[in-house]
Parts: sequence; structure tokens; C-alpha cells
Amino acid sequence: MDSLDELIRQQIAYYRARAPEYDEWFLRRGRYDRGPEANARWFEEVAMVRTALDRFHPAGDVLELACGTGLWTEQLVATAGRITAVDAAPEALELNQQRLHSSKVEYAQVDLFSWRPKERFDVVFFGFWLSHVPPQRFESFWRMIADALKPGGRMFFVDSKFEPTSAARDHTLVDLVQGEALRRLNDGREFRVVKIFYARDELQERLLRLGWNTTVGETLHYFIHGEGTFVNPA
Ligand SMILES: C[S@@+](CC[C@H](N)C(=O)[O-])C[C@H]1O[C@@H](n2cnc3c(N)ncnc32)[C@H](O)[C@@H]1O
Repeated sequence: MDSLDELIRQQIAYYRARAPEYDEWFLRRGRYDRGPEANARWFEEVAMVRTALDRFHPAGDVLELACGTGLWTEQLVATAGRITAVDAAPEALELNQQRLHSSKVEYAQVDLFSWRPKERFDVVFFGFWLSHVPPQRFESFWRMIADALKPGGRMFFVDSKFEPTSAARDHTLVDLVQGEALRRLNDGREFRVVKIFYARDELQERLLRLGWNTTVGETLHYFIHGEGTFVNPA
């Protein structure tokens, strides 16, 4: 097994083990509680991204990549006709199902680095996933999304900006080595994961070169989000 395969394997193992405590990060609890001011900033910025996603209006057949415990599935389900929610961690899929209890959502356990969609969708959504795609898989990842969309289909993503207070108190973003980060669970177990921080303009330019017409926006501290269509299938 080469080191990239091992990193992808470890990333899956991390999220499987983390599933029961995953939401603490988003809800700013436990090790992710950075005090009232920083937490308030976080929730304000989450609300801004949620507003941008509402305006985007994810409708029709929606594919959610790396859906996790359902923090975004919950919002997608309000406007989608149908959702296909995929993730490598059965533990996360189970929590997602428990959160949503929706007949609109179909789940599949897949490794996104080998999976190819068998149908086409009106919308592809992915939250906090692009930053975990290894640089070597960036182009094939975007190609897979283009292949998953119906003509005129749209994508929306949200991800992390480089901001130390977004991580747990015992995580430092500076322990990044070539796009990798060390992550720790509440019980102290450690895993290495991929973590790439994208700058807005650079990402938009890069996607344009891959045939994507994308608008990438950001909140002041924590989030980057983008929406677009694949325009150049050449
Ligand atoms: C940072 S979480 C994001 C979860 C969710 N989208 C959210 O925003 O709350 C990353 C998710 O990717 C999943 N994942 C990790 N490696 C994967 C892989 N190779 N294929 C599919 N999903 C994977 C994890 O199980 C986890 O649920």
C-alpha cells in the first residue's frame, strides 16, 4: 500500500471512529468550544453559509458527497426532491439516517476515491470535503462531479478557511505537513488526515481551467463556499 492509499485509509478510520463525537466540532462543544466571542462569530458565519445555500436553492435530484452525520443533509432535504447521500463511514450514515428520518434520502456507503455515480443529478453538494481530497486526486474529483451532473446541473460546496480557532483546542493547524494534519479524538487516539486550505481567487481560477464556471465566496473568518456549473466538457 503506498503512502497516499494509507492516508486515505487512515482518514476513513478517523471519521468512522469520530462519528459519535463529530457534531461537537460544528456545535462548538467540548474541545471545540473557543469561548463565547469566537463561538458567536462561528455561528454567525454558519448562518451566512446557510443563507447562501438557501439562495442557491438545491432542488430536484441532489447528490451529497461525504454527507457525514447530516448537518447539511438536514438543510438540503427542505428543498430537494430526492437526495442520494454517500459517505465511507457507516457510523456517520447511521447517525444521518437517525437525524433525518426522511424517505427522500437514500444512503450508500462508498469510498469517493473509487466510486463513480451511476446516475446524474441536478445538484451535487459537499460540505467540508474538498479540503480532504488529496492534491493528487483534485482533478479526478472534479471530473467525477462533472460526470455526476445532468446538463445544466449545479454544484455547491462549503469548506474551512485557514483559521486556528476552527479546530479543537488541542489541534494546531501549524502541524500541517504537506497538506496533512494530525487529528485527535476525545479518547486521545491520533490519526493523520488530508487537510488543504484553498484561497478563494486561486480556487476559482483553478476550477475555471478545469471547465467550471464558479463563484467562490467566503465569510470573514471561518468558511469558504462556492457554487457553479460545468461549462466546458471538452
Ligand atoms: C469533515 S467530514 C464532513 C461531513 C459533512 N459533510 C459535514 O459537513 O458535516 C468528512 C466526511 O467524509 C467522510 N469520508 C472520509 N473519507 C471518505 C472517503 N474516502 N469516501 C467517502 N467519504 C469519506 C467521513 O466519513 C466524513 O463523514
